[in-house]
Amino acid sequence: MSTVADLKIDLVEVCEAAARACAPYVGSGQKDEGDGLAVDAMRKRINQVNMKGLIVIGEGAKDEAPALYDDEEVGTGSGIGVDIAVDPIEGTNLFARDAAGSIVTLAAAPAGTMYRPGSCFYMEKQVYPKAARGKIDPTASVEVRLTQLAKALNKDIKEITVFVLDKPRHAQLLKEIYACGAKVRLATDGDVNGAIQAVLNMGSDALFGIGGTPEGIVTACAARAMGAEMFGRMAPQKDFEIELCKKEGIDTERYLTRDELVTSDDCMFIATGLTSGEYVDHVKVGADVDGKYMTTDTVVLSGSVGNIRRVQTTLHV
Ligand code: FBP
Repeated sequence: MSTVADLKIDLVEVCEAAARACAPYVGSGQKDEGDGLAVDAMRKRINQVNMKGLIVIGEGAKDEAPALYDDEEVGTGSGIGVDIAVDPIEGTNLFARDAAGSIVTLAAAPAGTMYRPGSCFYMEKQVYPKAARGKIDPTASVEVRLTQLAKALNKDIKEITVFVLDKPRHAQLLKEIYACGAKVRLATDGDVNGAIQAVLNMGSDALFGIGGTPEGIVTACAARAMGAEMFGRMAPQKDFEIELCKKEGIDTERYLTRDELVTSDDCMFIATGLTSGEYVDHVKVGADVDGKYMTTDTVVLSGSVGNIRRVQTTLHV
């Protein structure tokens, strides 16, 4: 029987195609133009993949095309059923400014195994490396959680770095982290990037804070693939979102576990670098005797075997 893991190379090529398409707009100040090109390239390549794919987490509603929208069917329509979460450019502002941490990202898991967040756009996330799995109480105070994390990592709290989005809503969280003596890696955007740093133990030891729910589902696939830890609590921020969440009966108190966010081990996370990063390099444009080429750097975290694969591809364009 085929698995999601069997689609690895195809899905890597989906992300690579998106990265190459929008590469000319890195640092251009034009995030929408770049996003549109990434989406078009992603859609074209993903529809060649032999699967019955369904975009569980996309970029918006059908009418807002060209975004890959929620419930859009993708793939050739034959093969296994696959839930897909995509963010053709995660960190669009970083992309437009050529600031570190912008990636093309896609997560995949068997049909029906990804959590559907309804109308809740924001999620409070906690992401920890594998060594902390099962050792953190998500409902405990920041101080207790950092103490539990430090013990699990065999570090002093002062040696812990937490990735946090630099948003006004995190003022109290930052105070509490600093009060423990831990360090903070602050970034204006890109909490998938911060989460992957924690999952891979590269640059950050944890991710705390409120960010997009779509990014949360993508992150859960990465965390599960690597045996890392994650919790997510729906945290609507905007008035209309709070109302919709109430109507839909969404529980905003309970932390969902990693395995509720994605219920299969056969899950996969893929990220191709657009700008510089801790675990993937930026997309490069060059030229040689054969003409112009682009080199992409991609990381694949695959749950079925629990491995990390780096794929570097150079293609003349
Ligand atoms: P975009 O790629 O859509 O610009 O998202 C960037 C991001 O920083 C995410 O990483 C994060 O989850 C979300 O925005 C946070 O949303 P907000 O900027 O509204 O706080």
